[in-house]
Amino acid sequence: MFFVHPQIKFNIENLKLVFYSFLKSPDLETLNKKLSFYFPDKTLVFTDMGRSAFRLIIERFNLQNSQIILPAYICDIFFPIFKQYNISPIFLDIEKDTFNLNSNLLLDKINPEVKSILVSHTYGLPLDIKKIKEIAGKEVLVIEDCAHSFGAKINEAFVGNFGDAALFSLYKSFPSLRGGMAVLPKNEESSLPKTNFNFRDFISLLNSCSSFAYFFKKYGNEISPKFLRKEKLDNPSQLNRVSLNLFLNFFNGFEKNLDNRIQLALLFKEELRKLGFKVQDSRNNVFTYLSALVPESINRDQLVKKLRKYNVFCTRIWHTPIILNPKVQKEYNLNLAEFPNTINATKRIINFPLQNFYTEKDIRKMVSALDKSMHDMV
Ligand SMILES: Cc1ncc(COP(=O)(O)O)c(C=O)c1O
Repeated sequence: MFFVHPQIKFNIENLKLVFYSFLKSPDLETLNKKLSFYFPDKTLVFTDMGRSAFRLIIERFNLQNSQIILPAYICDIFFPIFKQYNISPIFLDIEKDTFNLNSNLLLDKINPEVKSILVSHTYGLPLDIKKIKEIAGKEVLVIEDCAHSFGAKINEAFVGNFGDAALFSLYKSFPSLRGGMAVLPKNEESSLPKTNFNFRDFISLLNSCSSFAYFFKKYGNEISPKFLRKEKLDNPSQLNRVSLNLFLNFFNGFEKNLDNRIQLALLFKEELRKLGFKVQDSRNNVFTYLSALVPESINRDQLVKKLRKYNVFCTRIWHTPIILNPKVQKEYNLNLAEFPNTINATKRIINFPLQNFYTEKDIRKMVSALDKSMHDMV
């Protein structure tokens, strides 16, 4: 039981898919055709990472030197981008049950300097942005952060179609090693610099195979994720050929896999609830990260350690969201008392591994490990 990012199940068919990804030129026509079902009236731009897609959106809509409203509960990859483009963030607390931005807090924060709102569908649970659009008004650009929510729908339309622009992080839903996607209005032109498959991608590829991933986690002292995080590109760039091929190859069967994933997540959630966890709402959730809050009486970090003994490797996204970055606190003079739900989530959040190819038996094994670990702790 390892990790949260998609892994490649070891079989001949998948090995072939990986192998051919190194040889072929991506069939962009097929890819765009498939994606036009998800995003019928949009231009899609494939970028090296989701953050690159966000940079592209900033540049396209001239958001430099403005204010942006966003959830306090989000990763701090946005901080250097805000600095780069001189954007001032206004953070909003989240709702307890959804872990998504609390739109009731929005009205008080809107002012003429605010040019955009970043709305995240956190962990795969879509946030209906109709209300946000109404409060924000036509002048304010709504950007959907769909990093966790590929394939999630609201009323039969896929997320990414509701805002003025959207960004995706492909490697969170597909074993593409990296990759972002910007969703822009129809008929947009963009020419980004090319990138190549590099050593970091090679390590990522190993990390997508459960035996290597196990080795990295168990013996690498978390070297690999730290190493992977090191790379930073300051300008939006294209997705490399190999990752684009992997995305296209593993796109087949996506919906069937997603159905399986959702069924397993619902089963797991029910078990978590019985053990006293506070689970995220389910409605339309695609569970890219199966997330819950540990019971108040349990020390989350100890639980994560205990679970590793049973080879269940959980993550804590986000135990350190952007508002807990000391540099962010200093730069924007934050008052943490304004974000009680976010702070509570940082202390209790745990994300369980869930792969599309898991079976009910895998979930039962994890639940049993969880039960034993919690028992050991009392
Ligand atoms: C909510 C959210 N938005 C955006 C990103 C950025 O995506 P990427 O890692 O592809 O740059 C991440 C992940 O880091 C994320 O969790």
